[in-house]
Amino acid sequence: MTSPVDPTGTPAWAKLTELQQNLEPDLRSWFAEDPERAKSYTFTAADLFVDLSKNLITEEIKQALLDLAEQVGLTQRVEQMFGGQHINVTEDRAVLHTALRAPQDATVEVDGENVVPEVHEVLQRVYAFAEKVRSGEWTGVTGKPIATVVNIGIGGSDLGPVMAYEALLPYKQDGLEARFISNIDPTDNYLKTHDLDPETTLFIVSSKTFGTLETLTNARLARTWLLDGLTASGAISGDDDSRKEAVAKHFVAVSTALDKVADFGIDPANAFGFWDWVGGRYSVDSAIGTSLVVAIGPENFADFLAGFHAIDEHFRRTPLEQNVPALIGLLNVWYSNFFGAETHAVLPYAQYLHRFPAYLQQLTMESNGKGVRYDGTPVTTSTGEVFWGEPGTNGQHAFYQLIHQGTRLIPADFIGIANPSHPLQDGDTDVHEVFLANFFAQTRALAFGKTADEVRAEGTAEAIVPARVFTGNRPTNSIMAPALTPSVLGQLIALYEHITFTEGAVWGIDSFDQWGVELGKKLALEVTPAVEGDAEALAQQDSSTQSLINYYRSQRQ
Ligand code: F6P
Repeated sequence: MTSPVDPTGTPAWAKLTELQQNLEPDLRSWFAEDPERAKSYTFTAADLFVDLSKNLITEEIKQALLDLAEQVGLTQRVEQMFGGQHINVTEDRAVLHTALRAPQDATVEVDGENVVPEVHEVLQRVYAFAEKVRSGEWTGVTGKPIATVVNIGIGGSDLGPVMAYEALLPYKQDGLEARFISNIDPTDNYLKTHDLDPETTLFIVSSKTFGTLETLTNARLARTWLLDGLTASGAISGDDDSRKEAVAKHFVAVSTALDKVADFGIDPANAFGFWDWVGGRYSVDSAIGTSLVVAIGPENFADFLAGFHAIDEHFRRTPLEQNVPALIGLLNVWYSNFFGAETHAVLPYAQYLHRFPAYLQQLTMESNGKGVRYDGTPVTTSTGEVFWGEPGTNGQHAFYQLIHQGTRLIPADFIGIANPSHPLQDGDTDVHEVFLANFFAQTRALAFGKTADEVRAEGTAEAIVPARVFTGNRPTNSIMAPALTPSVLGQLIALYEHITFTEGAVWGIDSFDQWGVELGKKLALEVTPAVEGDAEALAQQDSSTQSLINYYRSQRQ
């Protein structure tokens, strides 16, 4: 493995620094002077239509960003990933979520072995299982068909499935519902199970490691809920055999640790595996998506995977100057490192994408929130961006004020869908058109602003003119697609995966480990006895932690 190139030492970095210092962003003039600007900066990737023209870039800046990509070896890093090299250095693993969506006849080697046949073998098992649940052939212990599948998982074993399920609700089979338990807050477990019928509920315990406290706790709670419910109603006798049979009919698992699945009491025949070269936050397209397959069916899931693959191909094969994930990743570096932008808004104009920003938070922030490079040396510039967002137009009435007129630069991605999932008319008005007009108007206002003269021309009193001026030159990416199909959703996810990869490659970091999450997990285990009342454990805590625990214990009834 080559050492990371220090991006700040490259000629392109020096050039970008100079360009930024001399830049007088003026999107109004740039558009006025160049009628072709929108065309020059609009790109396509599979079904995605991506307009990057409202960014603070000139041709010279774009070229310098492309030079930066070349000088840090982005193309080589891409090949290392697709080629199965162990680019997750700190865990000594290949990074091959792209193999999960490779066609059956592709060859992707990990340590000399083609993994594609195994990927498709598991996929076929998941599909067969899902078909059985969907058709009613798979029944609960009392012979009733399954009405609700409950995915139990957290982080990458939850966010992808729940986001995609919500996004693809129109593709869900009638009469089948999916729910998702993630939080160890018992309220989550209660809320998702209290109104369900144990006889028609199937749990899918999803955990890469099968060692995550939240997931195992929730799985045990679910098992107790199931067995107590079935016993209380007389559906099972409650003896050991009947309990075993009930667990076999109502629990399946998805994990890389199939031995631990068996220890939990789930029949390995009802378990679906995946591999250590799939990171949790990159796993929605593995068996971790089983709840989604059950809900939308194998055909739609295959379409979802095809969408990912189309963007993989685009990322791998398109020259950088037309390569959408690479260009957006480089723009993110431009704003983060040269303008000091700290956050990045993702604003889907599609209600069904309401969990997409939350999904992207794990994808981007767990991947690129790193302070050392993949060789262990400190990073040489700021890394990561705080991703956040809400669907439009709700966000417009909440936080857009700060994006328009605040003191911070917040690059924003607007995501719009041409064909509505549910076209509705308000009298003569097609409401989707009003909705999208908001998307277009917002990006226009952010780019071009409103001058003091324009405000005055509206008859505004002089004293309040400054408050009504919009500076403009606030950068946005506009990403559009024909319809929110499974394929388009796969394309959007893969787009952000590769944007994240591009940024990580520039910064020279390992975007595929997550050691930062480990300390909190370990400390929670250490603190638990103190919370439970162990005086010795309490005495070992710092004074603030002791005070919080004492307060908790004094209030708890
Ligand atoms: O949040 C840390 C993390 O390790 C994620 O990367 C992962 O998606 C999540 O925990 C859940 O882990 P597991 O699938 O092993 O239960």
